[in-house]
Amino acid sequence: MTKRVAVLGAGPSGTAMLRAFQSAQAKGAEIPEVVCYEKQSDWGGLWNYTWRTGVDEFGEPVHGSMYRYLWSNGPKEGLEFADYTFEEHFGKPIASYPPREVLADYIKGRMEKAGVRQWCKFNHAVRWVEYDPETEKFTVTVKDLKADKVFDDVFDHVVCATGHFSYPNVPYFEGLESFNGRVLHAHDFRDAVEFKDKDILIIGTSYSAEDIGSQCWKYGCKSVTVSHRTAPMGYKWPENWEEVPLLQKVEPNSRTVVFKDGTTKKVDAIILCTGYKHHFPFLPDDLRLKTANRLASADLYKGVVWVHNPKMFYLGMQDQWYTFNMFDAQAWWVRDAILGRIEIPPDKAVLLKDVEDRVAAEDALEDDYACIAYQGAYTGELIAETDYPSFDIEGANEAFYKWKKHKKENIMAFRDNGYKSVMTGTMAPKHHTPWVDCLDDSMADYLRDG
Ligand SMILES: Cc1cc2nc3c(=O)[nH]c(=O)nc-3n(C[C@H](O)[C@H](O)[C@H](O)COP(=O)(O)OP(=O)(O)OC[C@H]3O[C@@H](n4cnc5c(N)ncnc54)[C@H](O)[C@@H]3O)c2cc1C
Ligand SMILES: NC(=O)c1ccc[n+]([C@@H]2O[C@H](COP(=O)([O-])OP(=O)(O)OC[C@H]3O[C@@H](n4cnc5c(N)ncnc54)[C@H](OP(=O)(O)O)[C@@H]3O)[C@@H](O)[C@H]2O)c1
Repeated sequence: MTKRVAVLGAGPSGTAMLRAFQSAQAKGAEIPEVVCYEKQSDWGGLWNYTWRTGVDEFGEPVHGSMYRYLWSNGPKEGLEFADYTFEEHFGKPIASYPPREVLADYIKGRMEKAGVRQWCKFNHAVRWVEYDPETEKFTVTVKDLKADKVFDDVFDHVVCATGHFSYPNVPYFEGLESFNGRVLHAHDFRDAVEFKDKDILIIGTSYSAEDIGSQCWKYGCKSVTVSHRTAPMGYKWPENWEEVPLLQKVEPNSRTVVFKDGTTKKVDAIILCTGYKHHFPFLPDDLRLKTANRLASADLYKGVVWVHNPKMFYLGMQDQWYTFNMFDAQAWWVRDAILGRIEIPPDKAVLLKDVEDRVAAEDALEDDYACIAYQGAYTGELIAETDYPSFDIEGANEAFYKWKKHKKENIMAFRDNGYKSVMTGTMAPKHHTPWVDCLDDSMADYLRDG
């Protein structure tokens, strides 16, 4: 086979693509030449922690949005790889909400086992991609960051897996420029200890807001105030935590913030947990996905095929309840489309209709439970069309439903619960220390017995 495939990014989505091809090869299939460009020095994507913010040592935008002491915000039973279980990797059952280092180790363990490191060009940033309709090939322009050299290479397919939680969405509020404290976006948040004994204001009500607030509270900040645009989160928060209407302005040259209802508060720091942008500075208009962060992404047939040029694919561009195993389902499906095992309908109208139907189905969903079931069904739909090991999606949905219930019961203790693996049937053991008391997030501490 002479085909060449470029995979952009070696996070959980990009590595799923590599693993999908390697798995076909291991079963005797002839596969294309796969080249994965990754601007970081290792695979793992967001799960690699970096202390850096702004630009990296090469002047590239820092990809990392993760911070110290981050633990999984959903149960690991919802994201487990069907071809590589937690038990296989760690040699024993582990608790349900692993810290970042543990999940990074798990993602990397599968890839080391697959043995495809040689397909990756690390410290290589993709600069531009262009499609030539005459040759039907893509030219990918890449910078080898260490060698300080830019070069082109030519491919039959491009799989974009560069993630969408790295370019911050930063709204402006009147007076921010003269606030006498620190203003930062969640993307640049690194260590809750910085905010010990401080009064912090958080803008936003989604996962970053909930988790960064909880981190700061756990590591000793004085108070947490969360300001919402649409609705408060409504959990049973600790005493020194309040939810308020949207920030209206900052009084000039002060630390006083004013909310929509006219109330005011003095705070030391403002953390904008206002989400991220799908941002692909290396893609021209004809290849560039423009979508909101939603379950049914715009312009992607089956959630992965770029409807305006079906030789181009995207992985992991949806908002995410399901993550690692959904990326696998997508990668296996894309692999089979590239191998010609799955036919992409030649009629663009059919591709567009598929997107339209998915958007309409998402728009009709009534609550988070329905959204989980929707994404579970999507994952199952793709798996059914490939040889990715099928698993009990309903069981995985159940873990998410229980997780939501546990958060409602006690937002500072939901991580103390355990769930059953749908891959192995094993019930996760209880972690040795309640999350609120567990200040050591190292893998060694997490894995120690009792
Ligand atoms: C703070 C935070 C916490 C999260 N916590 C959880 C959690 O607990 N559980 C969960 O399941 N999910 C969580 N997520 C969701 C996360 O999106 C997924 O777990 C996963 O990392 C997505 O994988 P990805 O490969 O699509 O993207 P990423 O992990 O973002 O990987 C993309 C890769 O592409 C590379 N790249 C980008 N641009 C270029 C370029 N121009 N050239 C070359 N390489 C490039 C990047 O360096 C990176 O390695 C979290 C996200 C954030 C932001
Ligand atoms: N421990 C963990 O595992 C962990 C921690 C943090 C993040 N994450 C992950 O990171 C991803 C991103 O989550 P996220 O919370 O950063 O983004 P998000 O889910 O997209 O949420 C963005 C939030 O910003 C608010 N917002 C946007 N623009 C605003 C504006 N102009 N003014 C006021 N509010 C505004 C939104 O409010 P509206 O509701 O009004 O639109 C929403 O609450 C998720 O996948 C999440 O799971 C995980």
